[in-house]
Amino acid sequence: MTTTADQSLWLAALPDQVRPPLTGEHTYDVAVVGGGITGLTTAVLLKRRGLKVVVLEADRVASGVSGNNTAKVTALQSTVYSQIRSRHGLAAATDYAAASVAAVAQVAALAEGIDCDLRRSPAVTYAYTEDEVRDVANELIVARQVGLPVRDAKNVDLPFEVHAAVWLDDQIALHPVKYLRGLADEVDGDGSLVCEHSRVLDVSGNQVSTADGRVRADKIVIATHYPTLDRGLYFPRLELTRAYCIAARVHAPTQALAISTGSPSWSISAHRDKLILAGQSHQTGKPAVEPFRRLEDFARKHWKVEEITHRWSAQDPTSYDHLPMIGTYLPGNDTILTATGYMKWGLTSGTFAATLLADLVTGKPNELADRFSPHRMSLKSLPTLVRKNAEVAVEMVGDRIVPADATSSENLPRGQAHVVRDGLGKTGVYRDDDGQLHGVSLRCTHLGCLVRFNAAERSWDCPCHGSRFDVDGSVLEGPATRPLPRKEPR
Ligand code: FES
Repeated sequence: MTTTADQSLWLAALPDQVRPPLTGEHTYDVAVVGGGITGLTTAVLLKRRGLKVVVLEADRVASGVSGNNTAKVTALQSTVYSQIRSRHGLAAATDYAAASVAAVAQVAALAEGIDCDLRRSPAVTYAYTEDEVRDVANELIVARQVGLPVRDAKNVDLPFEVHAAVWLDDQIALHPVKYLRGLADEVDGDGSLVCEHSRVLDVSGNQVSTADGRVRADKIVIATHYPTLDRGLYFPRLELTRAYCIAARVHAPTQALAISTGSPSWSISAHRDKLILAGQSHQTGKPAVEPFRRLEDFARKHWKVEEITHRWSAQDPTSYDHLPMIGTYLPGNDTILTATGYMKWGLTSGTFAATLLADLVTGKPNELADRFSPHRMSLKSLPTLVRKNAEVAVEMVGDRIVPADATSSENLPRGQAHVVRDGLGKTGVYRDDDGQLHGVSLRCTHLGCLVRFNAAERSWDCPCHGSRFDVDGSVLEGPATRPLPRKEPR
């Protein structure tokens, strides 16, 4: 009997050998915080321009969202162009298209000489139901307007009826962990360095500190996917969603990089003999209804599944006005730079973000700098920002919005969690598969919202800014840096 690995298909390719952590005091031209697609691509580009760069990765290279995705690098991204045009106008959609096309070419160029299973493939935005036809038709119109060589596809290699589709040739599927390991290898050496297990604990002035080392650098790039520094007010401008993914060994997996436009959306791709299916996204901290089972049901309905081999999930920030944020961390200070808000298309957007970051670091003019500046103000999207922050305010003060389920955990089944009233407060209690109870405070240690249990991943997730904690309160994902206090389960 085989068991499904609760791990990304890609992370199995991480080598056992860890790159040494940062120790001691050093000086570099640029310190890059984060060893994912943005950080490593930025580091390669800067090294090629003659700078000495250090990359500080808190865990392993590519172990974050860059190693937990569907591995698509494409300029066709569901209905992104219709959405950007409606919020920002055609010029913004055209800029986003140009940046994405350049990113596909950039990945192809950087991947030369890296054994990362890169293959060219068409990308497809399709209508799974009749209701989605209008959105697909609209995307076809806008994608043409922004200059993409798309076509109306009649026949798509999918094992179910497709009601409409937009098709873009010559996009990329690759093995993201192998690709990023290759980029890390290029960075390492000749005065530049990649460090693993080197969590940055403090950034002040031109200095970056980890537990055992310190770096002085002219420029600091925060490439942590979600900006981790407690400044710059990024929290209120980003919304976090989680999405789920499975890999299944099937007969003849679909090779196109396909995604449907409806809700739920079904994202499809392949790696060798495996189908990769993703979807079931939801706002972090909101309930997910058996996302892995639903993905598996969809796979079994349409393909002859031999085995589900892997399942994983990831979290993605989207900015309130639905454009990536790339540029200086704070207005008027060009020492620290950042990039975030990739709207789930991080292998593509993280690549074009790296080009822009490298240009900003080296003072090279880039006509997209204003478009993606984190300090832009989008009047049209202000109502979204106000609504989102009103919701967060309610979460912070509304103790009643997480009601107690019980007064004791005596009858709590294994593998489940509930909320127990505990004097004036509440305790989140989880019973593990061995029957052991685990109790934590529900008050998020970031800014005090109340966390909710995510049954699919057995974690306590915060709906305000996406922090996640394990059943004993340890931080799984920030911006929180302190664990939830443990409490005696009742
Ligand atoms: Fe900000 Fe929880 S209050 S992540």
